[in-house]
Amino acid sequence: MARSKVNFDRDWGFYQGELHIPYAVKGGMTGGITDTDSLREGEWLDIAYHDKGMSEQQLEWTAVSLPHDWCVEQEYVRDEGLGSRDGSHGYLPGGTGFYRKTFALPADADGSKWNIRFDGVSGTSTVWVNGHLIGSHQGGYIGYSYDLTDVLRYGEEGMNVILVKVDATECEGWWYEGCGIYRHVWLESTDCLHVAEYGTYITTPEVAKEQASVHLSTRIRNDYTEGKQISLHTVIYDADGIQVGEGTAEAYADWYAEVELEQSFCVEQPNLWSPESPYLYKAESVIRVAGQKLDRYETVFGIRSIRFDSKEGFFLNGEPLLIKGTCNHQDFAGVGVALPDSLIEYKLKLLQEMGSNAYRSAHHPPTPELLDICDRIGMLVMDENRKLDSSPNGLSQLSRMLYRDRNHPCVIIWSLENEEVLEGTLTGARVLKTLADWTRRIDPTRPTCAAMNHGWHENGYNDAVEITGYNYGHRQDVSIDLHDHERYPDRLMIGSECASYTATRGIYEDDPVKGYCSEYGTNIPSWGCTPQQAWSDLVQHRFLTGVFMWTGFDYRGEPTPHLWPCINSHFGLMDTCGFPKDSYYYMQSVWREEPMVHVLPHWNWPGSEGKPVEVRVFANTDTVELSLNGRSLGEQQVDTNGYLSWEVLYEPGELQAAGKRGGHVIAEKTVVTAGQPYQIALFPDRLEAQADGSDTIPVRVAVLDKQGYVVPAADHEIRFEVTGAGALLGVGNSNPSSHEPDKSVLRRAFNGWCLALIQTSAAAGAIQVRAVAPGLASAEVVLQSVSE
Ligand code: GAL
Repeated sequence: MARSKVNFDRDWGFYQGELHIPYAVKGGMTGGITDTDSLREGEWLDIAYHDKGMSEQQLEWTAVSLPHDWCVEQEYVRDEGLGSRDGSHGYLPGGTGFYRKTFALPADADGSKWNIRFDGVSGTSTVWVNGHLIGSHQGGYIGYSYDLTDVLRYGEEGMNVILVKVDATECEGWWYEGCGIYRHVWLESTDCLHVAEYGTYITTPEVAKEQASVHLSTRIRNDYTEGKQISLHTVIYDADGIQVGEGTAEAYADWYAEVELEQSFCVEQPNLWSPESPYLYKAESVIRVAGQKLDRYETVFGIRSIRFDSKEGFFLNGEPLLIKGTCNHQDFAGVGVALPDSLIEYKLKLLQEMGSNAYRSAHHPPTPELLDICDRIGMLVMDENRKLDSSPNGLSQLSRMLYRDRNHPCVIIWSLENEEVLEGTLTGARVLKTLADWTRRIDPTRPTCAAMNHGWHENGYNDAVEITGYNYGHRQDVSIDLHDHERYPDRLMIGSECASYTATRGIYEDDPVKGYCSEYGTNIPSWGCTPQQAWSDLVQHRFLTGVFMWTGFDYRGEPTPHLWPCINSHFGLMDTCGFPKDSYYYMQSVWREEPMVHVLPHWNWPGSEGKPVEVRVFANTDTVELSLNGRSLGEQQVDTNGYLSWEVLYEPGELQAAGKRGGHVIAEKTVVTAGQPYQIALFPDRLEAQADGSDTIPVRVAVLDKQGYVVPAADHEIRFEVTGAGALLGVGNSNPSSHEPDKSVLRRAFNGWCLALIQTSAAAGAIQVRAVAPGLASAEVVLQSVSE
């Protein structure tokens, strides 16, 4: 049977709570199965949940699709005694849950190898299949897989039952982690002779405009009980499907063993991968035995070279490139950590629109689809290992990340840890060295890095890795300790974490009671700095290589500087819904070429007439002229990498910033005093989506006055009615102190905006989205869900 990979996200049952499953191991009863033989469809296996005195069928299983995060469905609780996690984790309960799925396989499936792959399951997860205890996995951030070949039932043997226990009681990190099978699950099958799991490794040792060498090493696994003489035929295709390389290698594959084959190719006039031109090639590997095709495997890769220099920073394909990065956790409004792929892509698109070219997956490996998207759209990645841990589990987690991700052209740095407590200690240095050695063994083509709370010169800690990652300067007037460059001129340095600038979207005065921080940046933490500081440091000191701003998006948990009622962080350049804060526009002004101007604050200050208001402007033009109600307030020379500021006596009306180059206006931004709230407006990110039951369209929702201007402080409660070929997946408003549920048809606007996520169903058709609120004219939009 040919290789297949089937998405296994649909039709799971979910039970929230604890169930006691006895680990009976007795003649086929492993895992507490009371009956194993003669099962037919409809005759389910009973796993005896002893403490409930119930059988599996009697339990109430809620139908769910993956990815799924049950944490985000709970109510916020402050009391840790009630099982709530603390503020760091967003004040939502953890706990235990079970997932169960039944499926049938055809009789001819027998004889193939069958594997189940979980891309990410929270906490500690345990898997039983047809009553057999298959394995337990500790660690919620890297995938794992199990060979199920022996324990599956084929054809007439009956249905298969898979049960997964997710124990998310303990936390691994200090941010919102979610609970559940929150990434994809796949059922894979191959012939007994096949390319091993993550068995291809493609490198491009020599890259030039005229030609590039491509090296491919392929691990082939033979699970037959006899050795085989095999041939491996590899074809390299360009993005148009045109063959640009070909080769055949032969080997003897011993039984129950792996054999590794090496092949080299030369690609003429290669299209090099870069953020501007993310060109991808594909290698197709076909394995044959005595002329019979047994496996076909595809590997997507890019041709590019990377180099880091202790004085001049980063070079991609021989050209210097400033790394304009953000650090990000993985959650989003409305879904917790269970993001459909399209929402991951949406987040990356928003980052790119801000001008960012690099992503740090803090503080763990990302979901595999994120890297696929980064390859495709041209986003560089600092791929991060979860922990400073060289135990067998720690090394296994690191290895799985490396094998899984080493063919992605987007990945340019392996980060081995972030601010773990052992940093700078002798033990920590030993552990880090082991992780770094391990990494160099598996992929010597990218440098290792650790994101350190300090430069850590003690005990040779930072010498264990090639790049010292600096998290902050621990003073607000520097982004990192730049003097280290003079002290250690040969050290490769990078701003692995910068800024931590706390701001709440649409807020211009600190409010400790509500837990809001002004967008003017009057409440940033002592270790952090402004985005202006972080960026200027990099521009003036190329040896710094790049900055990764903490963070691209606000995330649940780690409410800083205020705890309850705050439930999420304020560090983002965008909020939890992906709405831009003012500093997003600062980044745009220095990260993008296109002329732009941004003005803050909004222009609704009733009661402040005649009082001074600080107006700030971010722009990348030569000068900016500010005017209020048609009167010029003066023209200022743009402060490259900084911002402009005017003190303006407030009067309602129109505040306009005109960005000029050579005396001509090339960009403009006007903020207008809005009138009374009058209507709702819906702004879908797209009008069309795939009818696959997963694709999700974010719809931005605004409260407008009669003229169509956003009312800056509007907080109306909006009800969503979704009918047709889709459903409401979740809502959000990014108010860091809102305790409204994200799984609801209701959401208040926060400072004029909220968000609704509309997910398609599997059948194509129109989706009607209506938004209503008392006292406001309603809004409606029709989206189309289409089959491919
Ligand atoms: C860093 C840490 C991040 C986050 C950040 C907040 O020290 O690595 O995970 O906690 O501080 O400023």
